[in-house]
Amino acid sequence: MKPAAELLNLTGKAAIVTGGASGIGKGIALRLGEAGAGVIVSDINMEGARQTVAEIEALGSRARAVYADALDITAAQKVVDLALETFGRLDILVNVVGIRLFSSFAHITEDAWDRMLDANLKSMFFTSQAAAKAMIKGGQGGKIVNISSVGAVRPHGYCAHYDASKAGVVGLTQALALELAPYHIQVNAIAPGGTMTPGAIEAGKGIQACRDQFEHPVLNVWSLDVPWFRFAEPDDIAKVALFLASEAADYMTGCLLVVDGGRTLL
Ligand SMILES: NC(=O)c1ccc[n+]([C@@H]2O[C@H](COP(=O)([O-])OP(=O)(O)OC[C@H]3O[C@@H](n4cnc5c(N)ncnc54)[C@H](O)[C@@H]3O)[C@@H](O)[C@H]2O)c1
Repeated sequence: MKPAAELLNLTGKAAIVTGGASGIGKGIALRLGEAGAGVIVSDINMEGARQTVAEIEALGSRARAVYADALDITAAQKVVDLALETFGRLDILVNVVGIRLFSSFAHITEDAWDRMLDANLKSMFFTSQAAAKAMIKGGQGGKIVNISSVGAVRPHGYCAHYDASKAGVVGLTQALALELAPYHIQVNAIAPGGTMTPGAIEAGKGIQACRDQFEHPVLNVWSLDVPWFRFAEPDDIAKVALFLASEAADYMTGCLLVVDGGRTLL
């Protein structure tokens, strides 16, 4: 039997974390680096991505930052190519990039819908496709971890396009898990609850404007009630991503792990 500590050891593995410049993505990139993986940090925020790289290097692992816009699907191949060029392999992809825009249902425009679905779902689809091809070619299997949201199973309100995109992430995760199983590529998802990140704090400012759009306020929106008495920190999500990216989760595929301090119990 392999010792428990070795199960989480990612030494010799190569990972990509999208959206790794900030918040949950940064937390996951640091965790994977701390566990020994080489990490490609992709983002549009290069200053943040370079900072994440510096912190991974300080933990003793290799890392590189790369500019990749989730709205440009050709960028996905560039990121995968950089992983192969840097580490000679690709074992782990964590799809974290996501945007949030708040608006009541009646006010969501076609443009806002397209932007949301492109950033949160289309980019995940094509990044996973590019990564899976490399993993299949490498012949050593792989792990794909997709960041969904509690909104996929319990809608926030005032962001129907966001909640729909995150439910789409769950469907995509299951579809890919089924199709990639013969190649020993596991695909799982995490649904974080409210997590203290720069993006979440910024998004919170847009909620009040939505409340004013309708005379019947939606009650669910980003409630402060969490049975665990606090919001998540990025590392609360990162530790679960590490588990899914490690040998400890070798028999799991197509799963959604809700990591929300009990929020969905309410
Ligand atoms: N924070 C939460 O409460 C929470 C809860 C559930 C799910 N999530 C999901 O977790 C993920 C990360 O959220 P976060 O709170 O850490 O946000 P964040 O805004 O702090 O980080 C998101 C990162 O994505 C990058 N990014 C944004 N648009 C991009 C684009 N077009 N191309 C490339 N990179 C881009 C940003 O530069 C940033 O570094 C998102 O998918 C979000 O939906 C967050």
